[in-house]
Amino acid sequence: MSLLDIFSSGDTRSLTMDEPHPSSLLDSGAQGVIGKPLPRVEGPLKVAGKATYAAEYPAENLAYGVLVRSTVSAGRIAAIHADEVQALPGVIAVVTDYDTFLRNAAQGGDTDAPVQGVEEIQYHGEIIAVVVAETFEIARDAAARLRVDYEPGEGRYDFERYRNEAERPPDSQVEAHSQQGDPDGAFAAAAVKVSAVYTTPSQNSAAMEPHASIAEWKEDGTLLLHGAYQMVASDQQQLADALGLKADQVRIISRYVGGGFGSKLGIAPESVAAAIAAKQLGRPVKIVMARQQVFDATVRRSNTEQHLKLGADADGRIVALIHDSLVSNLPDEDFFEPVGIGTHFAYAGENRRINHDVVRLNRTLSGSMRAPGEAVGQMALEAALDELAEATGVDPIELRRRNEPPQDPEKQIPFSSRALVPCMEKGAALFGWADRKAPGSDRRGEWLHGIGMAAAVRSNMLQKSAAQVTLTTDGRAIVETDMTDIGTGTYTILAQIAGETLGLPLDRVIVHLGDGKAPPAAGSGGSWGAASSGSSVYLACELVRERLAKKMGVDPAAMTLKDGRAIAENRAVDLTDLVDENIVVTGQIAPGKQEKLHTQASYGAHFCAVKVNAVTGEVRVERMLGVFAAGRVLNEQTARSQCLGGMTFGIGAALTEELVHDPRNGKIVNRDMAEYHLPVNADVPQLEVHFLPERDINANPIHAKGIGELGISGAGAAVANAIYNATGVRVRDYPITCDKLL
Ligand code: MOS
Repeated sequence: MSLLDIFSSGDTRSLTMDEPHPSSLLDSGAQGVIGKPLPRVEGPLKVAGKATYAAEYPAENLAYGVLVRSTVSAGRIAAIHADEVQALPGVIAVVTDYDTFLRNAAQGGDTDAPVQGVEEIQYHGEIIAVVVAETFEIARDAAARLRVDYEPGEGRYDFERYRNEAERPPDSQVEAHSQQGDPDGAFAAAAVKVSAVYTTPSQNSAAMEPHASIAEWKEDGTLLLHGAYQMVASDQQQLADALGLKADQVRIISRYVGGGFGSKLGIAPESVAAAIAAKQLGRPVKIVMARQQVFDATVRRSNTEQHLKLGADADGRIVALIHDSLVSNLPDEDFFEPVGIGTHFAYAGENRRINHDVVRLNRTLSGSMRAPGEAVGQMALEAALDELAEATGVDPIELRRRNEPPQDPEKQIPFSSRALVPCMEKGAALFGWADRKAPGSDRRGEWLHGIGMAAAVRSNMLQKSAAQVTLTTDGRAIVETDMTDIGTGTYTILAQIAGETLGLPLDRVIVHLGDGKAPPAAGSGGSWGAASSGSSVYLACELVRERLAKKMGVDPAAMTLKDGRAIAENRAVDLTDLVDENIVVTGQIAPGKQEKLHTQASYGAHFCAVKVNAVTGEVRVERMLGVFAAGRVLNEQTARSQCLGGMTFGIGAALTEELVHDPRNGKIVNRDMAEYHLPVNADVPQLEVHFLPERDINANPIHAKGIGELGISGAGAAVANAIYNATGVRVRDYPITCDKLL
């Protein structure tokens, strides 16, 4: 049974994207709110401290849980000396339910999440128990005192040492192994060759809000969980699976989420632990993960080793394109960082191989983080393109133009829309690309200056999504869906879509998000949130319009809705007069044949200027500019913020971000914001974001494509390419720290 089947309410308009959807109600611009750079509607609540986050809900008789981590990296638990701390004043219980604690569930998507006990330790820092007390401070103290005996086991910790024992991952998210033509032969015979190995380190999503849950069991045996999650419907299913319940016995509420970046796609240990403890104790339990626990025991992006081989003719036309990658994850996990996901269709080339292999290591679970695949894949691919430009003497933009595929080079199907070349051209003009100098030739005192560019490519996806819209007798629209807003602007864009299609000013549109009792949405992941949930709201509003047109006695196409009135045939009627009973309808969107008929992606081009200190190797990003084409931009301000964030993460990935694993035990050495170096204000110069107007009629009825993860894709490579242009030194081991440049 699909999640959508669970829900039904009122009349439903369903659309499966089997065909292009050429017209959109949003084009009329009657209300004039779509696309506008409007500030987020929940902004005043947030700055006033009135937006309630997961850990902030009140609960009667609340107890506080603190998670306990394993201090060994492999082996078994022999004994947990719970008695010693249970005797301390204020301590309520030490909960060590091996059968149901989660390592971490699969992230989002389908919901047959594995339930993994932790009697067997798989990595350093894995959650093994929760100490519950009357106050947080007592629980934390008792957790620190808790003695645990282990039977240490053998683990595999060192990526370098075990890389030759890679096992083949199952095909899941992407074709893990794909080949066409004779890539090795074509590479060997190519006039110009680039063969280079790039490495990227493990990374952490590092969302501002740590993972937090308050679990409360109701008298009817159902669980209410206030949590910080990206995908409420599938998270409810995962939590139900972990606890042996049915999905409709769990209700997750995630009204406000302080960032996720992938780490909150699937449930994390704190939610399961809180639910089990609350059940055992018969009272609500709150668990907030400490920052170090978030780093240790939620999810990391895998480190990668990527071997790029580009063979080209003398004019830079690619004849062989090989992208072999090796990543890491725990034994038996399905997920692998899909490093080559964008390489499948980014550039032409008849002979191709894109390979993913996994080394099984006892390190924190790896999973989706900020543009899984593209973010790190393009740090290699786009740097290799820069090396090919250098080797052929062709300008990097011209090189990409020469390798622009007329259609998907592997699937031989058209692109739904693709504006990579216009993005590069506009960016080049705005940035001043023509002023680029030869590598290492622009020295001013101690500083070497350079500029670089890279393309941005991010797959576009549509996911099943539903929303209910109520048009009330007092002329307001209420949108209800379990979609989340993780800081992305969902509240605002859904209000804009309803406002535009129903002709209502935004103060007459109310959006309720993040409650698992509402119709199940796609959730915030994979950059599909706005287009998927926006389409469901759009479809519901289309149905409301038809109802209103019927009441007006006209064809919907002959009616304009504007400022709370229905206008047709020289009549203008207030919706408050027209609607005598609330109109309640549901919209549902689902992917269909269109995603097989077209390769869908968003595109962009990054430009970056850096200076590198010739004495110390210090890199300063001086300027960065991105031009993006992602279909209809629903809100220019929130869309811009997404891209600014992505570019900022690109600077971090290029220069500072790196989880360091101790090679002796896999332990993450730098597990806090002080030592895991995200870029801060001083690292980020003025960033410029531009959008190209675009509509994608093949993607969905609102013609928007994903934008959330487009800004990070390629951004790190633009920084790296600028560093090469400044110094003439090519560093292929990210992050590019001072020591590697000297
Ligand atoms: Mo994203 S890594 O799908 O939250």
